[in-house]
Amino acid sequence: MRFAVLAAVPVLLFGLTAAQATEDVRALVKLPEPMRTHMLANMRDHLTALNEIQTALAKGEFGKAADVAENRLGMSSLASHNAAHMAPYMPKAMQDTGTEMHRAASRFARAAQEAAVDGKLSRPLAELSQVTQQCVACHASYRLH
Ligand code: HEC
Repeated sequence: MRFAVLAAVPVLLFGLTAAQATEDVRALVKLPEPMRTHMLANMRDHLTALNEIQTALAKGEFGKAADVAENRLGMSSLASHNAAHMAPYMPKAMQDTGTEMHRAASRFARAAQEAAVDGKLSRPLAELSQVTQQCVACHASYRLH
């Protein structure tokens, strides 16, 4: 009996996951092909940057974490991401989420620099979660293909 109940758990979980996967409620944002490829490459670099930031924080390298955040995700990264060129293709709410991500990354960079003084991770981590919150929010609402 207990086995039967346990055996049903993965089936139920799988069922739920499958239902979510077949109902994609994200809005499709149509970009010209070169821009789409460029944006996805930027996205992969966002993830690489997050990973580098976490590695630096774990080693107490606050200055490095700040530099990666500012230059790859923060307000200083807008030009390299062609943000102004892409923005007109995106719904306003999506643009706002992107802008908020860049702002949050710059706030994180400042918090990381300040934390170098006492080595405390709590503020930088709180600011970093504001960055990833924007990744999550945008991914929940939009798709490119
Ligand atoms: C303004 C919206 C927005 C923000 C902010 C955003 N993304 Fe994305 N990201 C997207 C969209 C749209 C896609 C394409 C999803 C799809 O078509 O299924 C995507 C795709 C990706 C991919 C897959 C790339 C590929 O090659 O398929 C990665 C990795 C990714 N994002 C990482 C991140 C990370 C990490 C952050 C935050 C630091 C982030 N993104 C912030 C909109 C955003």
